[in-house]
Amino acid sequence: MSILNVTNLSKTYYPQKEGVSYQALKHVNLTVEKGEFTAIMGPSGSGKTTLLNLLATIDEPSSGEILINGTNPANLKNAKLSLFRRRELGFVFQDFNLIDTLTVRENILLPLALEKISLKEMERRLESLADILGISDILSKRTFELSGGQQQRTSCARAIIHNPSIILADEPTGNLDSKSARQVMNTLTSLNQDKEATILMVTHDPTAASFCKRVIFIKDGQPFSEIYKGANQEDFFQRILDTLRLLGGDFHEHQHPRP
Ligand SMILES: Nc1ncnc2c1ncn2[C@@H]1O[C@H](COP(=O)(O)OP(=O)(O)O)[C@@H](O)[C@H]1O
Ligand SMILES: [Mg+2]
Repeated sequence: MSILNVTNLSKTYYPQKEGVSYQALKHVNLTVEKGEFTAIMGPSGSGKTTLLNLLATIDEPSSGEILINGTNPANLKNAKLSLFRRRELGFVFQDFNLIDTLTVRENILLPLALEKISLKEMERRLESLADILGISDILSKRTFELSGGQQQRTSCARAIIHNPSIILADEPTGNLDSKSARQVMNTLTSLNQDKEATILMVTHDPTAASFCKRVIFIKDGQPFSEIYKGANQEDFFQRILDTLRLLGGDFHEHQHPRP
């Protein structure tokens, strides 16, 4: 069974008062198997965030179906939906979303706070992850003492500590310099390889995308094409650039002001 099964998914935004409606996603089909590491790329306005929000159960489809580990979240309400989100999904955001009154250790363990898991098991998972991510020596620090790269590696650990079905990442390297971006992509690669994490990330950065095994390109709310990495990351990077050129459009991601 696939981890993610998207069938005929459409999303139309309707204006609050007057104006025209806009179909941001049009009959999208998409399958992700366990252990896949996939990037989604496409010009500004192509529907990437819309797709991720639907998968994250932050927003609801207009039509079509999403199955995550066999469950359609549209059939869940309130407490069951919260539980589903908490257990099945892991999130990595562009701006890290760590809690700055907590230490790195506490931030990472947060998704386990509501689960019945022994302290010993928590420590075991934490140690194993911290080791893989190279953050063992900063576990007692608070977030304001960390570099952007360290913060994002902390959020990667938080995204996987509860063994979710899939990790959804929205521009995880968007706020990082190129060196930190590489470190974070190496982190996600390790989680994919060592922990069999299934990762789906939106990015406009071809270098970041070249760490993935597969890139899906979307245009005007529809999948345009997809490519797979062979043995060579350099060659994959070139093919990503070629496809982006073919796609055309504006790739500058607009910074959204914080609410
Ligand atoms: N809440 C909304 N209401 C109306 N239109 C929206 C809303 N969110 C996104 N859109 C429109 O849907 C299209 C896709 O947006 P989005 O998914 O954010 O694209 P991307 O993340 O690829 O840049 C854009 O044309 C955008 O203006
Ligand atoms: Mg977006």
